[in-house]
Amino acid sequence: MSKPLKNQLQQEVEKRRTFAIISHPDAGKTTLTEKLLLFGGAIRLAGTVKGRKAAKFATSDWMEIEKQRGISVTSSVMQFDYKGHRINILDTPGHQDFSEDTYRTLTAADSAVMIIDAAKGVEAQTKKLFQVCRMRGIPIFTFINKLDREGRDPFDLLEEIEQLLDIRSHPMNWPIGMGKQLSGIYDRHKQKVELFDEQDDEKIEYTEVAGYEDAKIRKMAGEHLHDQLCEEMELLDVAGDDFDLEKVSKGELTPVFFGSAINNFGVQTFLENFLQLAPTPAARNSNEGMVEPTEEKFAGYIFKIQANMNPAHRDRLAFLRIVSGKFERGKTVFHARSNKNMKLTQPQQFLAQDRDIVDEAFPGDIIGLFDPGVFRIGDTLAENKTLSFDELPTFSPEIFSKVIVKNALKHKQYQKGIDQLTDEGTIQVFKTVGFEDIILGVVGQLQFEVFEYRMKHEYGVDIQMQRMSFSHARWLVGDQIDPGKFRINSTAVTDKNGHYVALFENEYAMRSAMEKFPDIQFLETAP
Ligand code: G4P
Repeated sequence: MSKPLKNQLQQEVEKRRTFAIISHPDAGKTTLTEKLLLFGGAIRLAGTVKGRKAAKFATSDWMEIEKQRGISVTSSVMQFDYKGHRINILDTPGHQDFSEDTYRTLTAADSAVMIIDAAKGVEAQTKKLFQVCRMRGIPIFTFINKLDREGRDPFDLLEEIEQLLDIRSHPMNWPIGMGKQLSGIYDRHKQKVELFDEQDDEKIEYTEVAGYEDAKIRKMAGEHLHDQLCEEMELLDVAGDDFDLEKVSKGELTPVFFGSAINNFGVQTFLENFLQLAPTPAARNSNEGMVEPTEEKFAGYIFKIQANMNPAHRDRLAFLRIVSGKFERGKTVFHARSNKNMKLTQPQQFLAQDRDIVDEAFPGDIIGLFDPGVFRIGDTLAENKTLSFDELPTFSPEIFSKVIVKNALKHKQYQKGIDQLTDEGTIQVFKTVGFEDIILGVVGQLQFEVFEYRMKHEYGVDIQMQRMSFSHARWLVGDQIDPGKFRINSTAVTDKNGHYVALFENEYAMRSAMEKFPDIQFLETAP
């Protein structure tokens, strides 16, 4: 084993953090991401609020264009350096472009940052994304945003997080006032106060204090707010959960930070604590056991495929998460599924929409590979020819449609399109038992629009979609499954691997079936 490489790997892994930001639309994900990038000096993207408006407009424009061209709208990956760390942020799309891709992106992250709007609390999409993180047992950090506005009582918010998400919480800092009265946040561990200054989001001012009772806080925030802080801190010290890194690592306790992203308030404190507490790139399981990041042999897996990102080319881009070893441009790796060696000549790294050619990369990094149509979601690329990472989970779709091909002669192209788009993870295909009618399932409506568009423009097939009334899907596991028994407000179908899946019209129908068939397991992700 070569010592220099091992040492280099250790160092590079140590400095990396790869995380995803999860939130409901409008909680402030874009704003927080921009501020984080700004700390890293990646000013190319993060602009002033004014600049951001333009950028936002451009983004939605881009989405519209993507849609027009039939491109699946997807999450991007951003990288920046901060005080000796290399940080990879995986962005998860929030709005109507929510899709299975969003879930899969989370499998490439080692931790997650959950943003919550202080006035709104835990919202629907946050909950869904949280559950995927929970399934993986990764650490989850919480940023409660928009303190500069009147929000809900911090204790209320903590209680909601604990109850709705079933996770314990530990506030790392605490607001001194809120909305118009916001005057600072008290850092419970480092015992300092970050002062709030709405006028200037560039200047960050801290005051060292000797605990929350320090008279300096009284002077800064006034009697009333200081009394309130003391009361709340006492309550937290007595009734709150203690900080426990082991519980954080397992995703059982979330460190909570308060702030206001738009005012760059509490963001640096959050970032610095996060870097200290968040895990370095984690090992991934494979057919040969856990693959540690410091293993010298290069290995990675594809978690997402994006078509035609660059409108000038009809290429596909495969996103690879590096799990172990060092990646160098031009490296030859083995692609197990096609049983071929491949030379990776034009790998790319990302800074938002800008793509840069990457010369070397390390575990935790995400690189983009040109895909001439050979990759599939979950593929392993490795120096070790026999290695294969665990399959990525298939997530339960929520919208279903039957498809009618308008011109029967186009059936072959249609099948080809279905196969390819399934590989990309754009859609899931199910077949009815007996008749083998095709039913498509997706997580977000946009996936259907993209499917219809691409069928027409890439495969020349005009289709008609017939929306079905199902809203829940569960994979069935058991010894004796009789698909004929799923008939009341439900139907049984098979997935691409021949597993039985039951589709239900509503939660009630699903619960009834679960009660009726206690010997069958109803799984939310494919077995
Ligand atoms: P998203 O990516 O999670 O969807 O949210 P985004 O950052 O776009 O923020 C949603 C809205 O919330 C934006 O306002 C943004 O300016 C605002 N916002 C973000 N952080 C804060 C905060 O700390 N305090 C307050 N008061 N507002 C915040 P918008 O009006 O939709 O956009 P814009 O016109 O400001 O660009």
